[in-house]
Formats: sequence, structure tokens, C-alpha cells
Amino acid sequence: MIHTATLTELAEKYISLEYQYGAHNYHPIPVVIEKGEGVYLYDVDGKKYFDYLSGYSAVNQGHCHPAIIKTLQEQSSKLTLTSRAFHNNLLGVYEKYITSYFGYDKVLPMNTGVEGGETAVKLARRWGYNVKGIPENKAKIIFAEGNFWGRTLAAISASTDPSSFKGFGPYMPGFGLVPYNDLIALEKAFQDNTVAAFMVEPIQGEAGVVIPDDGYLTGVRELCNHYNVLFIADEVQTGLARTGKMLACDHENVRPDILILGKALSGGTLPISAVLADDDIMLQILPGEHGSTYGGNPLACAVAMTSLEVLKSENLVQNAENMGQLLRKELAKLNSPHIKLIRGKGLLNAIVINHSDPEVSLELCIHLRDLGLLAKPTHGDKIRFAPPLIINEAQILESVSIIGKALNRLSI
Ligand SMILES: Cc1ncc(COP(=O)(O)O)c(C=O)c1O
Repeated sequence: MIHTATLTELAEKYISLEYQYGAHNYHPIPVVIEKGEGVYLYDVDGKKYFDYLSGYSAVNQGHCHPAIIKTLQEQSSKLTLTSRAFHNNLLGVYEKYITSYFGYDKVLPMNTGVEGGETAVKLARRWGYNVKGIPENKAKIIFAEGNFWGRTLAAISASTDPSSFKGFGPYMPGFGLVPYNDLIALEKAFQDNTVAAFMVEPIQGEAGVVIPDDGYLTGVRELCNHYNVLFIADEVQTGLARTGKMLACDHENVRPDILILGKALSGGTLPISAVLADDDIMLQILPGEHGSTYGGNPLACAVAMTSLEVLKSENLVQNAENMGQLLRKELAKLNSPHIKLIRGKGLLNAIVINHSDPEVSLELCIHLRDLGLLAKPTHGDKIRFAPPLIINEAQILESVSIIGKALNRLSI
């Protein structure tokens, strides 16, 4: 194990347990958290940190948001799961709530983000056969290079990152790739009339907060209209106020045919995802053809409604926009020779470090940890800065001063 020199015996103990008894499928920053509150995390020794990851944007509303926890507690002592074998008194209420919130006819509730993606792909294939008239088993879904939508076999079959897909073949057939932010390549791919859908992140999160050119989403919408292809927006990370709009697609006032949400739909308390679409798409799936034991459970329905309510009642769209602008402005003022690029929208931001060696971004994250801020490198030279959306001005200024000090500590 690396970078554990400054850990206490207590922290070492918990990390050793994970190392000994858990699969080695993650490489966490060496810190052991036991409490979260608002924008802060606390480790097992009581040290306080700014959370600049927010559970990969699941904790937009802040850790243990009181209203969300209240709903969780109240509903969990009343009814948590019926399965979809029976009706419950919250599912329909939630379905009405979320479809009016986002302006779609119907929702299909699932659990994780990746299941949302799988659901969208199934819907698109079914629509392709029933509505577009694609010959059986020939439907194609196009993805953008650099995409990330999870770890199932379908998701990794769409991936261009060898650490996601290598050694796990054979892969899902019927998937195609085009470069991100490239409308010419997309139009070329759409010449094939077996294409049912294009699935894309409006900003690529895991790829390192890659923002397409202005007009890209509008162009995607127009091409999808012209070639009768469904536009699937994967807003699992970018949605729910993260980028300074309720949806990242709202930056261009574009409405996808299928919208996938997850993560912050529960404010970090439960795995809850949702796929939204209109009747002509959603009603192609019939009883018994898709589902999940936990999808649409009453606890999730109650928690999701409160989580969505909090985004509006606390004005988190506007706060994400304002605090994001402040964060990028203050980061630029640091004028650090180690920062090559600062990019982002709202509070989904990343810096690109001036050194390609991934050890440097890791070292920076260790200095940040020591100074009281938690962040994680993504793809070597990029570090995502995505605090909970409830962060205020004083907290942004304090965190940027920590980031400045950490950059000065870099040994190269
Ligand atoms: C854009 C996007 N889609 C889907 C997923 C998968 O979500 P989950 O990890 O909940 O399956 C992620 C996870 O980071 C994501 O960033």
C-alpha cells in the first residue's frame, strides 16, 4: 500500500480489513470516513474535510441532508419494499411527481445508474424494432468514445477504456462508437438505418469533465430528428443541478427522448435511478419484460421525492452556477504552474495537472487530504472538483486556499 505513512493506527486497521477481506477492485485515497454532514466529511480520528467528490455527484444535497434523512427514517419504519408484485401507495405518487418535474409521460424506476443505462438501451432496441422497423436482432446503439456508464457487461462493451473492458470479453454486439463532440462522425454513423439510438453524456464526467462545444447537443438533437434515431441522455452524473442547470441538456434547451437519472436522486442515501421517456417509447415494454425487485420500492419513492424537492427549495441550480463560477475564478487566481487547465460547468469541475505522471495527481490528492480536502484523480492528470451543491462562498474561498497550499507542496 502506498501513501499510508501519515495514517493513524485506527485508520490503518480499517484499511487493512478492506484489503484483506474485500476484492481489490478500487484504489481509494487513504482516508477512513465515519461521518458526513453537509459539505464535510469526518474521519475515524475526528479530522474534518471538505468533500470535493460528493460520492461522484450522488451527494448534491450535502451529506445526511436533514429533510432526506427524515423521510428515510419515517418511511423506513412504515414500509420499505413490496416488490412490483403488488401495488404500493407511493409508486404512483412518485411517478406523477417525477414525470411532471421533468416533463415526460412516463418513468421506469430502477436502482443504480448502470441499470438505468441498460434500461435505456433495452427501450431503444425495442422501439427500434416496433416503431422504426429495424429487422430483428439488427438494432444498433451508438455511443461516444470516452463514455462511462458503469460496469455491467453491456456498459463495458461500450467503453473505450481498456481498464474497463480488457479481459472481460466477449462483448455485447450491436454497439458502435463515434468520437465525442463530433457531429460529422455522428451523421456518418446515422447513415446506417439500423441505428436505433445515440447514448451520450452531455458532459463526460469520468473522462475528466470533458465539455463539448456549444451547439453539440443541439446538433445531436437535430441529427436524431432527421435520421429517426433516439437521443438518450445519460445525466446520471450531470443531472440534478450539478452543472448549474437542472439537467446539463438544459444548457442548450434540448430535450432528449430518453433521460437517465441516478446518483443524487437519493442525495446519497440509497441506489435510486430513473429512466424517463414518452409513451411511444416507454409503452413498447410490456408486463414481465423488464424490472427489478427493488426498482420503485416505496422507500426509494419517498426519498427520491424529498431529494428532488430539496434541489428546488434550496435553489441548488442557482447556487451550483454561482459557486461554480466563483470556484473557477478563484482557482485561476492561484496562477499555479502545476495547473494546465481549469474546466467545468456549475459545480462539475476538473483541473488538468501540468504533469502526465499519474503519481503527481495522486500526490496532490494526498496533500489535499492532509490539508483537509478530499478529491480523487480521474484518468491520470485530471482531478475532479465537485463539492456538494449547498457549498457557500466562504467555504469555496477556504477550499481554494487549501488547494493553493497543496499545489505549493508538490515535490516536483
Ligand atoms: C454518466 C454516468 N452514467 C452511469 C454511471 C453508473 O452509475 P452507477 O455507478 O450508479 O451504476 C455513472 C457512474 O459514475 C456515470 O458517471
